Order: sequence, then structure tokens, then C-alpha cells
Amino acid sequence: MINVAIFVSGNGTNCENIIRHFADHKNVKIALVLSNKIDAYALTRARNLGVPAIVMTHNHFNDESQMMVLMRAYHIDFIVLAGFLQMIPDFLIRAYDHRILNIHPALLPKFGGKGMYGHYVHEAVKAAGETETGMTVHWVNSVCDGGEIIAQFHTPLSPTDSPADIAAKEHVLEQDYFPFVIEKVLSHSFSPS
Ligand code: GAR
Repeated sequence: MINVAIFVSGNGTNCENIIRHFADHKNVKIALVLSNKIDAYALTRARNLGVPAIVMTHNHFNDESQMMVLMRAYHIDFIVLAGFLQMIPDFLIRAYDHRILNIHPALLPKFGGKGMYGHYVHEAVKAAGETETGMTVHWVNSVCDGGEIIAQFHTPLSPTDSPADIAAKEHVLEQDYFPFVIEKVLSHSFSPS
């Protein structure tokens, strides 16, 4: 069984969608949901679906021994960032080389980097007059939103779309595709050689 941890900071629509997707999966278990925010609604979604959900605030999250004890306790093989708004410390990137992926709500490398998250991204897409937006799934390295791109999905925009409309269109892509991208990556990453 491949044990996956989902890291979250907020609402958790992706987290819930991923948990539902892998419920009863024969090879993949969502073993843990971790939030850096005590009030993240994602924690409630996870617990309602029977997945252990814990909070690690900033300093605990960045403490190597605490984090690695936790990862080992839950036998975590792979980490999915689903709206996780804290940088991943180097010790975790080293321990999970090509085992941490992130979803970003735009077509990287555009509209990425520090401060580019959630509604800020969609507002920037609107301000730039883009004719399309999309979602990106990428590997996580020490550069914010800078890891190698795994998959992108596009959706057209109309000039009258507001940032909220742009967010809604992009959200559909996340709900439709993100769990399938994770599943595919896991099947490649853990295929018997
Ligand atoms: C998602 O739209 C995700 O792409 C974005 O946060 C949202 C989380 O929503 N991630 C980033 O902006 C990362 N830079 P959710 O909590 O409902 O899944």
C-alpha cells in the first residue's frame, strides 16, 4: 500500500475530492491530512471521511525531528500539497525527492511564486488580460512554484470573466483532473522495476 499525506491550509475541496477518489483504492491509502492552520476546514472534511487529521503550526512543521517522526509514524511514502501555503523545508524535500507534488491554480511559469496563491492568482490572470487559464501539477523543490511541471490543463476565458468566474472555471479543472494526475504519478513512481 502506498501511504499518502495531504498537506492543506484552507477549505479543502481538493483534499476531500482526493480522499473520495482513493477511498477503497487497492494500492493507495490517504493516511494523513496535515494542516499548518488550526482552523482549516479541510481538517473537518478529512475527519468526516475517517482520515486522521492533525495540525502542525509553523515551528513544529519546520522541526526536522518532529516532522520525520510524524511521517514515519504514519508510514508516509508520498506527499500531496493541496492548497498548502507554507514553504516545504529542505529536509522534507530531501527525504521525499520526487515524492512531493503541488497543485497551482494557473498555467505556470506564469502567475507563480511568492504571494501567488488562491484569489491573488485569479486577480493577476484577469489583470493581465489572459485569454485562458488552467491548473498545473508540479514537483516540489526549494523554489516556490519552481519544480518540474508534471501536467497542465487549460480552460478558455472570455473578456467579461471576473476573477471569481476565472476561479470557478479553474476549480472545475482541479476537481476533474487532480486525483487522476496523482493516481498516474503514483503508478509510475511506485511501479515494480
Ligand atoms: C486551490 O485552488 C489550489 O490550486 C490553490 O489553493 C486552492 C485550495 O483550495 N493552491 C495555491 O494557490 C498554491 N499556490 P482547496 O483548499 O479548496 O482545495
